[in-house]
Amino acid sequence: MRIAVLFGGSSEERDVSIASAAPVVRALRGLGHEVLAVDTASGALDAAAEERVLTGAVGVAPPESTALARLAGAGSALRLPADVAGVDLVFLALHGGSGENGELQALLQLAGVPYTGSGPLGSGLAMDKELTKRVLLQAEVRTPDWFLDPLEPGAAAAELGLPVVVKPNAQGSTVGLSIVRDPDELEAAVAKAGVFGPVLLERFVPGRELTVGVLGDEALAVGEIAVDPEAAFTYGDKYQPGAVAETFPADVPAEVAAEARAAALTAHRALRLSGYSRTDFRLDRDGVLWTIEVNSLPGLTATSLLPQSAAAVGIGYAELCRRICELALR
Ligand code: DAL
Ligand code: MG
Repeated sequence: MRIAVLFGGSSEERDVSIASAAPVVRALRGLGHEVLAVDTASGALDAAAEERVLTGAVGVAPPESTALARLAGAGSALRLPADVAGVDLVFLALHGGSGENGELQALLQLAGVPYTGSGPLGSGLAMDKELTKRVLLQAEVRTPDWFLDPLEPGAAAAELGLPVVVKPNAQGSTVGLSIVRDPDELEAAVAKAGVFGPVLLERFVPGRELTVGVLGDEALAVGEIAVDPEAAFTYGDKYQPGAVAETFPADVPAEVAAEARAAALTAHRALRLSGYSRTDFRLDRDGVLWTIEVNSLPGLTATSLLPQSAAAVGIGYAELCRRICELALR
């Protein structure tokens, strides 16, 4: 197959996307596919990205030559070479922004190009943490209390209790997130998150951090990230291999693992996700499981959590990529 791996882009998670794309491109080439690796910020290969992976430059054809390129034409924040419209499949190795929030998915849908992962609706829902929480509650999946853009953040924080999590409503990788322990820190935290749009204040759940991948219609292994129970899993921890211990399968009671896997699958379905996703949890000190968020395009870096969740049930990295492609073409 000819597969275009779209990566990079201009979201806050651009670097994570480059790190996801590198092993994806390698794996797809290893599976015998012809791969075009396209940085959607430039419409061409990203020179700074890993050279070995991104060999074989893609020509940037005139935008009028295909439907997709026309749709993504002048004035668009997205640059796609026209070749992309002629591929058999687009593999989305993008994170954050218009690559993950459904906009690109809608464009590909309109252009009739098959793509990996979820469609526009599910992508949009999962990118919006507050709408995700509403859907989770409706599906009887437990999620901590919250306020979105409260008029009085101080009153909202007091009601939720300190410490409180302050984060952008639509960001990934903990960008813009703070855990506020002192009322004096609240204003700065709201301003920091507010750079990215609406701000979510959420009750902080001290405890253990768990995660579960979903592939197709199956929940994969539960993993634990050994964060400080009083802190968040930070950007630095996420992308420095070995910064925190990650254990798959997690050493948790069987009923907790079963609940997490069921919640991940329920969330995946209720949010209209397809192909794959990853759901993140906190397990509090009383053993109560709280669903924090659902990622429609979870990281696929060599040390990312979804690949580990898959590996723990015997699905290696290349097989994971193969299955993601297969699910997209169903
Ligand atoms: N937002 C990052 C890439 C993740 O969910 O893994
Ligand atoms: Mg996330």
